[in-house]
Amino acid sequence: MAIRTIITDSDDRIVRGKAKRVARIDDSIRRLFDDMIDTMRNAPGVGLAAPQIGVPLRVIVVEYEGVLHTVVNPEIVKSQGTETDDEGCLSVPNWQGPVTRATSLVMKGRDRDGAEVRIRADGWLARIFQHECDHLDGTLFIDRVQNRADIHWVDPDEDDDDEPGGTRRRRVRRRIRTSATVSQTVQSET
Ligand code: NI
Repeated sequence: MAIRTIITDSDDRIVRGKAKRVARIDDSIRRLFDDMIDTMRNAPGVGLAAPQIGVPLRVIVVEYEGVLHTVVNPEIVKSQGTETDDEGCLSVPNWQGPVTRATSLVMKGRDRDGAEVRIRADGWLARIFQHECDHLDGTLFIDRVQNRADIHWVDPDEDDDDEPGGTRRRRVRRRIRTSATVSQTVQSET
């Protein structure tokens, strides 16, 4: 297991290429999964696609709300609805922009043991899967932002700000990063 370098050059040949289908799920693919999980968690992010670490194979990892998904040859077979929200990407660090995605989907593929999986997802999880599947075809979220002027810089050092006046209500700004990310603003009571 190892933390691999995430390619942050959005013109990189592998990041921009079409990844190959995995013919056989063997130990080399399982090692790739281990490295991708370590790399995603270290970033930290909620998703990563193999091309982002220079491996042109159709392999993704997603970890969202405590559930880890490891998928080989993922294919979105059904999708429904649309929703627009800010997204980012570990390969395009510190930039975000509004991307319209399906709100729910069904994805097929195989897991790290070679078993067929069929995953139903909606909301942020569906968004993350769409973002990662895009990576396998060399597509970045910046390609999907309709108006390039909407792509904005997000200060990586920006702190959560507590509202003044001793209120117990705290605004938690949580930046959830998928292969570079999905950003989300969460209101929480403390
Ligand atoms: Ni990404």
